[in-house]
Parts: sequence; structure tokens; C-alpha cells
Amino acid sequence: MPDSGRERIVTGADDEARAERGAAEMLSERASINSEAPGMNDLRPRRFTEYIGQRQVVNSIQIAVEAAKHRGDTLDHALFHGPPGLGKTTISQIIAREMDTTLVHTSGPALERPADVVGILSNQKHGDVLFIDEIHRLSHAVEEYLYSAMEDYRVDFITGSGAFAKTINLPLQKFTLIGSTTRAGMLSPPLRERFALTYHLDYYSVEELTHVVTRSASILSVAIDQPGANVIASRSRGTPRIANNLLRRVRDYAQVRREGKIDDAVAAEALHVEGVDELGLDRLDRLYLETLARNYGGGPAGINALAASANEEVQTLEDVVEPFLLKIGFIMRTPQGRRATSSGMLHVGAPLSAARATDAGQGPLI
Ligand SMILES: Nc1ncnc2c1ncn2[C@@H]1O[C@H](COP(=O)(O)OP(=O)(O)O)[C@@H](O)[C@H]1O
Ligand SMILES: [Mg+2]
Repeated sequence: MPDSGRERIVTGADDEARAERGAAEMLSERASINSEAPGMNDLRPRRFTEYIGQRQVVNSIQIAVEAAKHRGDTLDHALFHGPPGLGKTTISQIIAREMDTTLVHTSGPALERPADVVGILSNQKHGDVLFIDEIHRLSHAVEEYLYSAMEDYRVDFITGSGAFAKTINLPLQKFTLIGSTTRAGMLSPPLRERFALTYHLDYYSVEELTHVVTRSASILSVAIDQPGANVIASRSRGTPRIANNLLRRVRDYAQVRREGKIDDAVAAEALHVEGVDELGLDRLDRLYLETLARNYGGGPAGINALAASANEEVQTLEDVVEPFLLKIGFIMRTPQGRRATSSGMLHVGAPLSAARATDAGQGPLI
């Protein structure tokens, strides 16, 4: 069945080459969205009813969508924040689909110059959803254009210079901006305040992820039993994207080493081979913990020093590694820097020194 929600991709461009690239991506995105071949996009839920978990967020946004549709109005601007892989892009695409509108996909870093954003904004049709991924990475100059665009649906820009400078006031169609970010704290207050709807996506429970794994397995025609799905879910660090990736790795292993069928033993074996431990920590998570535990005696250590020692990007550590380690209580952020907790130290088998006999507020060790 063809999809009613049209989607196009624009990468933030006003010159021809970039516009062409945008068109090409739009085609490939549409092609893959409609294709039957099992690809990444096919695992994305397409409707609110298929979106697993995040009940409160879904209920609230569903009411906003229904109310706007009933009034024949556009949806208020919405902001989704939370760690990567939790479904921010997915729910934004669902919103556009449920509103029967077009989603234009761009990102903070792609909108380099004010001309990029003015070009995209002036092309928005009534009710279109402009999706800006990594919205915390917009430049200040570009951000300023969004203020009047979001509030009054117009942009003012200056052409010429000196005595010839002229302000042009460009009215826009009423559109919906959806922002997505892993760092809500990095958004400037004036931008944040212009989102009437703000949602935080949190890590998923093992039960919800078991549901994600079972659903994806059936789409990919992979034979898996409930205990097998549960093993993958419990090692997915609360994240649907990781659950889907691990499912693919386990599927490959089962195909090559077993008869293709996944149960708990096969899943555990395959994930062990992949370097994913019982808590779902992978090589990078353990490298971070080991660096903090062994090179810095458990900390405190600054993030820049840790990144240099582990030979990783600061942003990767902050966005991908730290949020889950914080959540499971393996590390703490202190004004002096990062510290490993006793459970974090024990997990990587690091010795607990006498000087670190207690974790702040956590009572005695061991
Ligand atoms: N609620 C959900 N139910 C089922 N699958 C989900 C859900 N949220 C995310 N996924 C899966 O996880 C993948 C990553 O989601 P995505 O929306 O790209 O995350 P984000 O934009 O937050 O980084 C998607 O491809 C989708 O298949
Ligand atoms: Mg995303």
C-alpha cells in the first residue's frame, strides 16, 4: 500500500549542487521507505500504534496531533530530546505521517549559513514539518532567523550593504518545526522557549525492548523465541537502535554457526563473540571505564583527558557512552570531573584503593 505521508530530504542548501544532492537523497529516502526489501527503514514504526513504549510522550503528542487535525490547523512546534537511538527521528516521521504532511529533513550542522535556512523556510508549504536533527548545533546567526520564523512565520533579511542595504520582509507559510537533540541543555533559552511541545525520551525497559526485538525479528523473518529476544533486549542498553543492531549480529551468527534459530544460548554466545557483556556494555564502554579506573585511579578525571587517553571523540563519550553509565550508576559527574563508582570499578575488575573507600552518598564499598 502506498504511503500517504510523503517525505523528502533537503540537506540545507540554496545552491544548485546542494539542491540536487537534496533531490537525490529525497528520492533514495522515498524509495527505501516504500521498498519491500528488509532494510533499516523497514524496522521503523510508521504509526503511533506501532511505536513501542514512551506511553506518556505518545499519548500527549497524539492528543496534540488529533486536536490540530480537528481544527484544520498546523501542529505546534515540538522538541524531542534524549540519548541517541531512542526514537526521536522515528516519532517525528510518524507525526508528519499522521498529520498527512511532508517532512523535510535537515540538521543543525547542514544549515551552515543564514541563506540555507531562509531557502528552506521559504519553501515550506502550509502544514509541512521541518525536522532539524542535532538542533543544538545550529549557528547563532542561523538560530536568529528561526525566532521570527517560528513565532510570526516571517523572516527579515538584509540584502546589499552600506547605503544600499535593504531589509526584506518575507512572509512564510505556517509550518511546524520539530527539533531533535541529544543535548537539550545546549539549546539557547530563546530557541527552547519557542517550542510549545517539549518531550524527553527515556531509556526503554527490558520488556519494551523484548517487544522491539520480537517485532523486528518478525519483519526480518528471523526465528527467535522469547528467552532469546529477552537476552538481546537485556543487553541493548535501553536503546531500540542497539536492540535492532544486536538482533542482526545474532541473526548472522545463528545463520552461520547454528541452524538459523535464535534461543537464549545462541543469543548469549553470539553477543559474547561481539564483545557485548551481560549488562550490554560494549568495547567502547569498557574502554572508557578501564581508562577511568586504571589510568586515573577511578578519577576524578576531565572529559578531555579521558577522551585523549581512550583515543576517542569527546562528543562520542558524552553522547553515546556516558549517559548509560550514569544511568546504571557506574560513573558520576562531579565538579572535579568524572569518577567511577565502586560498582563501575568492580565491573572492570579494577582494584578499589583505600582512598576511595566510599562513594559520595553511596555508603561503604563492597
Ligand atoms: N518506540 C519504538 N518502537 C520500535 N522501534 C523503535 C522505537 N524507537 C526507535 N525504534 C527503532 O530504533 C531505531 C532508531 O530510532 P531513531 O528514531 O533513529 O532514534 P533517534 O532519532 O532518537 O536517534 C529506528 O530505526 C527504529 O527502528
Ligand atoms: Mg535521529
